[in-house]
Amino acid sequence: MLLSSECSEHLNCHRLEGARVSEHGFEAEDLAKRFGRTAALDGVDLAVARGRVLGLLGPNGAGKTTMIRILATLLRPDRGRARVAGFDVVRRPAQVRERIALSGQHTSVDEELTGLANLVMIGQLLDLPRRHAVRRAGELLARFGLEDAATRPVAGYSGGMRRRLDLAASLVGRPEVLFLDEPSVGLDPGKREELWQMIRGLAADGVTVLLTTQYLEEADALADAITVIDHGRVIAAGTPADLKRQVGGHTIAVRLDDPADTEPAAAIMAAVAGRAPERSTRHELVVPVAGAGELFEVTARFRDRAIGVTELSLRLPGLDEVFRALTGSSAPSSTGPVSGPALAPAPDPTTDPATATDPATDSAKATR
Ligand SMILES: Nc1ncnc2c1ncn2[C@@H]1O[C@H](COP(=O)(O)OP(=O)(O)OP(=O)(O)O)[C@@H](O)[C@H]1O
Ligand SMILES: [Mg+2]
Repeated sequence: MLLSSECSEHLNCHRLEGARVSEHGFEAEDLAKRFGRTAALDGVDLAVARGRVLGLLGPNGAGKTTMIRILATLLRPDRGRARVAGFDVVRRPAQVRERIALSGQHTSVDEELTGLANLVMIGQLLDLPRRHAVRRAGELLARFGLEDAATRPVAGYSGGMRRRLDLAASLVGRPEVLFLDEPSVGLDPGKREELWQMIRGLAADGVTVLLTTQYLEEADALADAITVIDHGRVIAAGTPADLKRQVGGHTIAVRLDDPADTEPAAAIMAAVAGRAPERSTRHELVVPVAGAGELFEVTARFRDRAIGVTELSLRLPGLDEVFRALTGSSAPSSTGPVSGPALAPAPDPTTDPATATDPATDSAKATR
C-alpha cells in the first residue's frame, strides 16, 4: 500500500464548512504492537478515503481497540506506519490530535453535569470562546435529539441518551476523523438504528469514520469497506458484499425437536450444502449455502425422514460464520453482545485472557 504525501497547512489541507479538512482519511501499513507475549497487532494494513466509513471487525481480543489507540496517538506502534488526516501518528501526534475524536467503548461524560454543561465544558477545553461553545453545544444537542434533556444531569440519562451525548461530545471539535469503538453496545435496536443514521450523516458531511464492531450487521449497515482482524492479523478485507460472497451468501440454521436426529439431519444438510454443518452455541446445526433452494431441499428431505424441527431458518451470514469460513475454525470466545446477533460462543474466562481484564479498552475511554 502506498502512503500518500504528508499533509501540511500549505499543501493538501483546506478549510471547508468551518473545519480543516484534508484530502486524506487514514491509512496504516504493517502495524504491529505486542503486550508482553501477546501480539495485539501483527502486521495490519488499513486504508480509507476521506468521508468513508471503515468497519473494523473482530472478536474480543482481536486487536480492534489497540488499532484505534495507535491511530488516535494514545499508543506507539512497535512497527509499521500510520497516517491520520495526512499526518504520521508517531512523528506528528499533535497535528493528528487536532483533527480526530474518539468515542470509546464506554461513555466518558461527567455524570454530575447536565448534558449542556458537559458539551460546553468540552468546547471550552478545546479553546472555543464560551459563546461559541454554548452555540456548538446547542447545535449538537438538537442534532442528537437531546434538547429536552439538555438541562438535566447526565446521571438521570438512559443508556441510549448517554451514548448519544458521548457521540455529541466527540463532535464538539469538528473532527475530520472519528474513531468509534463499539458505539452501539448497550443500545436497543431502535436506538442503534438512530445512531447508524447519525454516523451516516457524519460521513455524508465528509467525516472519515473508523468503527469497530463485533457485528457484521452493523458494519453492513454503515461501512463502505470492512477489514476483519483476528489475533492481530487481517483475515479478510473488502466491501460488505465481498465478505458475504466469501462465506457463501446465506446460512441454514436448524434446531431439532429430538437430539437423537442429529446424525441423520447433519448428513442431509451436508449432502445438500456440500459441506458438513457446524453446531452453534444455540445447539443449532448451521451450514453456509448459496440461497433458498437448499433450504427447500433440506426441508423436503427432513419431511421424508420425519425429522422434526423447532426452528428452521435461512439467514444472512453472521460474523461467526464469516470466521468459520475464513479461518476454518470457530471464532474465539466472546463475552457476547449486549444487543444484536450473537458473534461467538459463551465466554470462557479460563481460556481467554481478553475476557478477563482488558486494560486497553478501559484506558481508551477518553473523548479527545
Ligand atoms: N495494555 C495492555 N496490556 C496487556 N495486554 C493488552 C493491553 N491492551 C491489549 N492487550 C491485549 O491485546 C489483545 C488485543 O486487545 P484489544 O483490546 O485491542 O482487543 P479488542 O479487539 O478491542 O477486543 P474487545 O472486543 O474485547 O474490545 C488482547 O489479547 C488484550 O488482552
Ligand atoms: Mg476493544
